[in-house]
Amino acid sequence: MSETPMSRAGTAEPDYSLWLFGYGSLIYKTGFAFMERRPASITGWARRFWQGSHDHRGTLETPGRVATLVPQAGAVCHGMAYLITPDVLEGLDVREKNGYRRVVTDLYFDDGERSETLVYMATEGNEAWLGEASALEIARQISTAAGPSGPNRDYLLMLADSIREMGHDDDHVEAIEQALLALEGRAGGS
Ligand code: BEZ
Repeated sequence: MSETPMSRAGTAEPDYSLWLFGYGSLIYKTGFAFMERRPASITGWARRFWQGSHDHRGTLETPGRVATLVPQAGAVCHGMAYLITPDVLEGLDVREKNGYRRVVTDLYFDDGERSETLVYMATEGNEAWLGEASALEIARQISTAAGPSGPNRDYLLMLADSIREMGHDDDHVEAIEQALLALEGRAGGS
């Protein structure tokens, strides 16, 4: 974990920093202060749209689907790492209480450096867990869901764009994106 001194004598500022890894909306939208933002990856975890969302991208009646991580040997999940102070986590813990917990894992920056990172993931069996489904089933659900954070389709399309902009591929996300665009009559994307 990074140990960047940040406190000044006589202030209540946190005196250390840590890396937070984002693989979902955190790639393109933070809403918190950070000191550095760097493309990075974690290994042994695959991004999957298997977590339900009734508080951000859906409702209790029509839950949406958002990304979580599932263990998978050999998998590499590309995302964005943020160097933050620990007070940021208080806000995130409230924002992401819908089934997510914190895990510490190795972090690999795209430039070859390494560190450790905190990552939020929703594990199988949590109250909002939806689990595996085909790309088409997931796309159908995403196409009809919307919540306080906006339409579920926007979350998917912004995530897919962000992963591409970082120069990476995610077959799972792309398959759902293509299925969604086909449902919207925009097969092939535009
Ligand atoms: C993410 O974007 O990485 C993320 C956002 C909310 C909860 C968990 C992960």
